[in-house]
Amino acid sequence: MSTATELLSAIKDVGTDSTRGGYSRHGYDTAELELREWFTAEAGNRGLDVEVDRNGNIWAWWGEPGPDALVTGSHLDSVPGGGAFDGPLGVVSGLAAVDMLQAKGFKPGRPLALMVFAEEEGGRFGVPCLGSRLLTGAIAAEQALALTDPAGDTLADVLRAAGLDPERVGKDEEALGRIGRFVELHVEQGRGLVDLATPVGVATSILAHGRWRFRFSGEGNHAGATPMGSRRDPMLPASQLVLSARWAASSMDGARATVGRLEPIPGGTNVIASAVDVWLDARAPNDGRTRTVVERITAAAKQAARDEGCEVTVTEESYGDAVHFDSALREEVAEAIGQAPGLPTGAGHDAGILAAHVPTAMLFVRNPTGVSHAPAEHAESGDCEAGVVALSKVLEKLAG
Ligand code: GLV
Ligand code: MN
Ligand code: MN
Ligand code: MN
Repeated sequence: MSTATELLSAIKDVGTDSTRGGYSRHGYDTAELELREWFTAEAGNRGLDVEVDRNGNIWAWWGEPGPDALVTGSHLDSVPGGGAFDGPLGVVSGLAAVDMLQAKGFKPGRPLALMVFAEEEGGRFGVPCLGSRLLTGAIAAEQALALTDPAGDTLADVLRAAGLDPERVGKDEEALGRIGRFVELHVEQGRGLVDLATPVGVATSILAHGRWRFRFSGEGNHAGATPMGSRRDPMLPASQLVLSARWAASSMDGARATVGRLEPIPGGTNVIASAVDVWLDARAPNDGRTRTVVERITAAAKQAARDEGCEVTVTEESYGDAVHFDSALREEVAEAIGQAPGLPTGAGHDAGILAAHVPTAMLFVRNPTGVSHAPAEHAESGDCEAGVVALSKVLEKLAG
């Protein structure tokens, strides 16, 4: 019988990030594959039957597979330099909850599975929740298979190398149809539970969320020999986009807009870039506000491009509308674990993708730093244990 903290400690050396600390584990890279193998072995040790679906998501069954199964899970990949908990906490809590239930002789009255979703953060191929989007058909197979990673490898290449058949990727009604209800446990990515002085909460909603790629094209030239008045420098409109993101989201209730990734081409100190790629992450409480924020940022960036004699193209790389979790399931979950506050979240999750298809709920575990997607993300051992106890009560009630 293992605690969540013991299980996290078993993987603490896998995929460590040498640039800012924390972890860089991306879909199907060496670290994530090692973690998938580790999970498969841990699930096997508990007598669970492990299978990988057509889209690379792992299922570990306690009893016969579906239908109307109760499923819990999360992801093992991270953002670049991410924390130890975003993703893995939900996975190890599932294993620890199974330990707890097996120790007390519980036998599921309906199929029960633990899941690991592939490439949740989109850190390699750019589209978040790739495994759950493929499973549910929220992204078309052809579009997904053509995605490329920074090394230029397509998802199709990478899946093939991992032993999966790209021809079979895409909406999987049969696999999805086995899920009766889905519950994801996750570290909280803000200070909600800290402020409430409570270790565990239940999610109420997720912001609408999209990612856009802007390519600004100008004229590559010499940093010293090109007079200031003769430049077409794409870094100028790119900078305007960064500033406009701050301005547009700050003036829209509940909105967030971020540029966390910007790539000058070719990227040289004494080189005026030929082009700059900028990725915008924008979120708001509903579709209308999200779209308005992105329109305002886009208009400002296009104006700045014209002023500098540059061109700009905009590509929507992913989008998902706001999610309001099933209120009946939320109540059942809250009842199972005793009083637990409801909390909205600005972060995206596979649970949010599944929520369009099956009743879905989320448990959050307190994060004393309130920081996430960075090495400072944290959860105390006692709170992780409270999360496992809560999850085991939910599994017992909903799969009993
Ligand atoms: C994923 O965690 C996201 O919300 O970006
Ligand atoms: Mn995340
Ligand atoms: Mn996550
Ligand atoms: Mn996420």
